[in-house]
Amino acid sequence: MLPQSAEIWSGGLSFADYAAEFGAVSASGFGRRRFRTLGLSLDGELVSSCKRYQRELRCGERTFRAAGIGAVFTPQSARGRGYATAMLGALLDSERATGTDFVYLFSDIHPAFYERLGFVCLPSRAIVLRADTLPHARIPARSLVDADWPAIERCFTALDATRPFTLTRPPLIWEFLRLRARARDASGVLVRLGIMRGRRLVAYVLGRRFADVDSFALDEFAYVDEEAAALVPALIRNGAGDLRKVTGWLPPAPARSVVPRGAVRPRRTGVTMMLPLSPAATAAWQRSAGEVTSAAADPCWNADHI
Ligand SMILES: CC(C)(COP(=O)(O)OP(=O)(O)OC[C@H]1O[C@@H](n2cnc3c(N)ncnc32)[C@H](O)[C@@H]1OP(=O)(O)O)[C@@H](O)C(=O)NCCC(=O)NCCS
Repeated sequence: MLPQSAEIWSGGLSFADYAAEFGAVSASGFGRRRFRTLGLSLDGELVSSCKRYQRELRCGERTFRAAGIGAVFTPQSARGRGYATAMLGALLDSERATGTDFVYLFSDIHPAFYERLGFVCLPSRAIVLRADTLPHARIPARSLVDADWPAIERCFTALDATRPFTLTRPPLIWEFLRLRARARDASGVLVRLGIMRGRRLVAYVLGRRFADVDSFALDEFAYVDEEAAALVPALIRNGAGDLRKVTGWLPPAPARSVVPRGAVRPRRTGVTMMLPLSPAATAAWQRSAGEVTSAAADPCWNADHI
């Protein structure tokens, strides 16, 4: 399925690089323990496929088992015969039987396809800022290199601990994010900027510069405390460089409040969808659905997109 779906998901990478990224993820510790490709085959022919990612979702003090589904694909000639629906239905049955609490995905098509299987849409918005509305303060920003990943992880963890719910990032998930960041070097110019306080990284911004559309795609940022949070807008401006626009998924709370209001609109692709499976997950969702769906911030970072 990889060559057939590359056109949709290679994100500007050559097929060789796209296949190499897939190979590297599959062969990694993350790949061996938390990543699967699944398919439906009919008379020995693969008619639909998808990827499955093992994650955990922390809600308050409680941690749930979550499965992320990505890259649902049926070859053109086999579409419209129920294959993707049958494959996903079988996958959901198996998840339910093996104790998965939540299944989630990011829909690039009309969500009705997944709603028929029981998924619900979560707030999924994009934000656009004019770079010149961000402060142009002199800040001691520095480029982060691969050796800074442990510091990035610590900074992320400090902010993440303040969130009511989050897809957690144990070391294997960071391995996956690092592998993907390396592969995506080709898609835009990768920007990783941070601010140090002494020897401690206290804020960082990850994104990509796209000169052709004059915009800086903001993937994620974090800060360790309020003092560091105040520097984030200027750090984002540094990330944008000479580009006029900053675009990205609307950040989750509390990070959302750190960036200006900007222009916020619903996303047509990457729509976050979720299906509680276990009784505990269903009860937790019933308790928090109102709060999550009416929130002024989105539930997850663009960097968690699969
Ligand atoms: C989406 C996709 C996986 C569906 O595969 P499939 O095996 O044809 O799916 P099924 O036969 O189970 O269901 C077909 C139904 O899906 C729905 N569907 C297909 N494409 C859709 C889209 N873009 N938006 C919403 N619904 C869609 C239609 O209702 C269709 O029913 P119809 O043919 O009677 O109109 C397939 O079209 C595909 O591979 N598309 C390209 C990759 C992609 O975009 N994947 C989804 C990423 S989130």
